[in-house]
Amino acid sequence: MAFFEVHNLSRSFGGLKAVSNVSFTVTKNTVKSIIGPNGAGKTTLFNLISGFLPPDEGSVTLETRQLEDLSPDKIAGHGVSRTFQNLKLFHGMTALENVMIGRHTHSRSGFLSGMLSLPWTWVEEKAIVKDSLEVMDFFGIAHLADSEATSLAYGQQRVVELARAMACKPDLLLLDEPAAGLNMKETAEMGKLICKIRDKGVTVLLVEHDMSLVMNISDEILVLSYGEKIAEDSPLAIQQDKEVIRVYLGEDDA
Ligand SMILES: Nc1ncnc2c1ncn2[C@@H]1O[C@H](COP(=O)(O)OP(=O)(O)O)[C@@H](O)[C@H]1O
Ligand SMILES: [Mg+2]
Repeated sequence: MAFFEVHNLSRSFGGLKAVSNVSFTVTKNTVKSIIGPNGAGKTTLFNLISGFLPPDEGSVTLETRQLEDLSPDKIAGHGVSRTFQNLKLFHGMTALENVMIGRHTHSRSGFLSGMLSLPWTWVEEKAIVKDSLEVMDFFGIAHLADSEATSLAYGQQRVVELARAMACKPDLLLLDEPAAGLNMKETAEMGKLICKIRDKGVTVLLVEHDMSLVMNISDEILVLSYGEKIAEDSPLAIQQDKEVIRVYLGEDDA
């Protein structure tokens, strides 16, 4: 049985099939990338997996657990965490507080009460601070803990977002264009951090346009076009796939 499996997943908006009958599996402790042109359905696929959108049909299974009918916080509680294509750090909060919000899905008082500053126990908060600082340290940003999150350099904000997603100790991490807007050096750094996440035993699903990053760190690549899976293979095979080159990679990469 696969560690993670998506089976016949579909979702339409009006007449548009944003995700159409997509099936794949992910092996534990690997990086699988999902690539494809803008509008191919990559973010929608992540929204379906993480419970932000209900699927029209299909199933999502993590180990033995069915996820497709659960709410986002239940799915997070079962070990699936994500980042967003557009950075979503909270204004007026420090980097540490932003990371702590990620940790709240694992706390008794829960994500929402954390967000709304409803009371949770002091012992629980102390543990959350400690855990969150540990995650920040893991990503080399512990020294930024007390900085206002949205005033950090963009590349640093992206790492804070990564730390927040890791704070709930996921088994499966979904990253939606983590290198978007990063320069070459920051992108290479992001690649190292993703490998570090995998080395920690977390399985990664990556949506990314930066092909050098994707080809360097992926164990397998799935290609979406107009909501449909058109290829799924090793990085080397994907780079040589004529259909993939035609719809996405283009002549430069051929
Ligand atoms: N909430 C939504 N409502 C209506 N259409 C949507 C919504 N989300 C995505 N779409 C449409 O679904 C298609 C796939 O979008 P998306 O998943 O964002 O693609 P990608 O992430 O691959 O660029 C696009 O045509 C997009 O306009
Ligand atoms: Mg997208």
